[in-house]
Amino acid sequence: MEYLTYGKTGLEISRLCFGAGRLGDTCKTHESGAKLMLKALDEGVTFWDTAEGYGTQPHLGEAIRQINRDEIVIQTKTANKDYESASASIEKALRELKTEYIDVMLLHAISSPDDLATREREGAFNAFREAKAAGKVRIIGCSTHTYTGAVMDAVIDHPEIDVILTTANKEGRMLEGGTLEKHLEYIQRAYDLGKGISIMKVVVAGDIPEADRPEWIEWGFNLETAHAINLGMTENQHITLDVGLARASARRRLVQSKAA
Ligand SMILES: NC(=O)c1ccc[n+]([C@@H]2O[C@H](COP(=O)([O-])OP(=O)(O)OC[C@H]3O[C@@H](n4cnc5c(N)ncnc54)[C@H](OP(=O)(O)O)[C@@H]3O)[C@@H](O)[C@H]2O)c1
Repeated sequence: MEYLTYGKTGLEISRLCFGAGRLGDTCKTHESGAKLMLKALDEGVTFWDTAEGYGTQPHLGEAIRQINRDEIVIQTKTANKDYESASASIEKALRELKTEYIDVMLLHAISSPDDLATREREGAFNAFREAKAAGKVRIIGCSTHTYTGAVMDAVIDHPEIDVILTTANKEGRMLEGGTLEKHLEYIQRAYDLGKGISIMKVVVAGDIPEADRPEWIEWGFNLETAHAINLGMTENQHITLDVGLARASARRRLVQSKAA
């Protein structure tokens, strides 16, 4: 497994990120979800992504209860926009994740520059800032769901957004508001500014024939400007395949860097 620093955040993450978005589909109990997370950790996956909206924070919490907190980096999100509800989301995340701090807290699914600039979102931002000052949140960021174009300009230019979780895959599938080529330029700009970059929808939320999935995942690992490749693993076979591809990519990158 390759470990690297998440942009300028100072957080050390595994390049393969466990996306827990659909973990609850296959793991009906918190215990079974925790078992899958711990299996991934055994394989070196130390970066875990969840959200209030996925309902999987408790699954992660059950796993976190069984390990040392500093073994992993947790990224979670809230779609709540006003100060009160976003503050409540942070407290809920701390409770459900059974932790005293969240490494990365994201504003969930920014859909436009206006969305980022609303007074409401500013309320959520204030809740995040307050939690950061209190040591409950380390890093603030956002996800851009499937959107590109103006929304990328807005989040990249925002001085307090240190992490961006965005859509990227081999053919630019699901991207709304611009081409893949242009989107990769946005990602490059954000990377150059030191933002932590995670990519999702790498296998188009599963909408790729099974035989083609390794090639799409490899594309993700080949994207030098992505610190983390967020894959929505829901079963042991996903972990085996994704960890194998992450390790192969790490070996390739090591050989290339030695040759350079
Ligand atoms: N707006 C946001 O912030 C946002 C939105 C969506 C997701 N996310 C995050 O990103 C993560 C990834 O979600 P995504 O929508 O981008 O999904 P994805 O990783 O593109 O696809 C995940 C789905 O692909 C299928 N799959 C097949 N082979 C796989 C393999 N080897 N590894 C992983 N999945 C495989 C699985 O579905 P089948 O079992 O049906 O084949 C799995 O549920 C989520 O878990 C979540 O943490 C964030």
